[in-house]
Amino acid sequence: MAEVIIVKTQEEAGELYGRSVADLIKAKPDAVLGLATGSSPLAAYKALAKIVKEESIDVSGVRGFALDEYIGLPLTHPESYHATIHRTVVEPLGLDPAKVHVPGDALDGAPLEDGERIAAAGPAYDAAIEAAGGIDVQILGIGTDGHVGFNEPGSSLASGTRVKTLTEQTRIDNARFFDDDINQVPTHCITQGIGTIMKARHLVLLAFGAGKAEAVAETVEGGISSFCPASALQLHPHATIIVDEEAAGRLRNKDYYRYSFEHKPAWQAI
Ligand code: GLP
Repeated sequence: MAEVIIVKTQEEAGELYGRSVADLIKAKPDAVLGLATGSSPLAAYKALAKIVKEESIDVSGVRGFALDEYIGLPLTHPESYHATIHRTVVEPLGLDPAKVHVPGDALDGAPLEDGERIAAAGPAYDAAIEAAGGIDVQILGIGTDGHVGFNEPGSSLASGTRVKTLTEQTRIDNARFFDDDINQVPTHCITQGIGTIMKARHLVLLAFGAGKAEAVAETVEGGISSFCPASALQLHPHATIIVDEEAAGRLRNKDYYRYSFEHKPAWQAI
């Protein structure tokens, strides 16, 4: 059973993540962070950056692996996840860019037709995560259809990093980053698999707003199904799901989640 924490603001959620990761880095200066794009993690990165600055935490040894990348966008494209992760995480936190990896780094805009390179990139990425000793804490957003990373409904819950076809809904959701023009949104991506994500030692999923309420309810209280890939989190021994009131709107067990967070022993971190 995952821990569900209902917060009032994204800032409050960000502070929970920031505190947890700051403590991790203090204890393990070469911690391996699993990174995600999207708007949901932004307050969390901001909170972490603030604590790092205030407490003068040395992050020079911190390593990072992002979840996913579009196929066909060069690394320099401003909406490539390579560029996004560098803009939203690496720079504000002051991480060493050489220690932060994105699944498409080896592809750099290679077209979908370049099957050999694309097929090799996934297993190589999983091997690199493994060689780094695995991910300590993976931050996750969630798509309106229950995807994590870019694991769309129907994704194998045992999958490794690989190429996936984006759903039309995801392309519509993400068109806002491409001049509201769905035709500019790539049709394919390379994403850590659900099996890859499940190997991280701690998962922190953040979801805000009414648009995520159904996906959150399916994830937490629905059956475990590849139809809602995020529901695999129910099988993870340390998953923390932080949501605001709107995203919690369709949870049936809300009172218990609140009660258990209020009565959480002071010695227990998220
Ligand atoms: C994209 C990303 C996901 C992210 C999702 C939700 O599809 N690949 O990792 O979780 O968007 O984004 P947002 O947090 O902006 O709602």
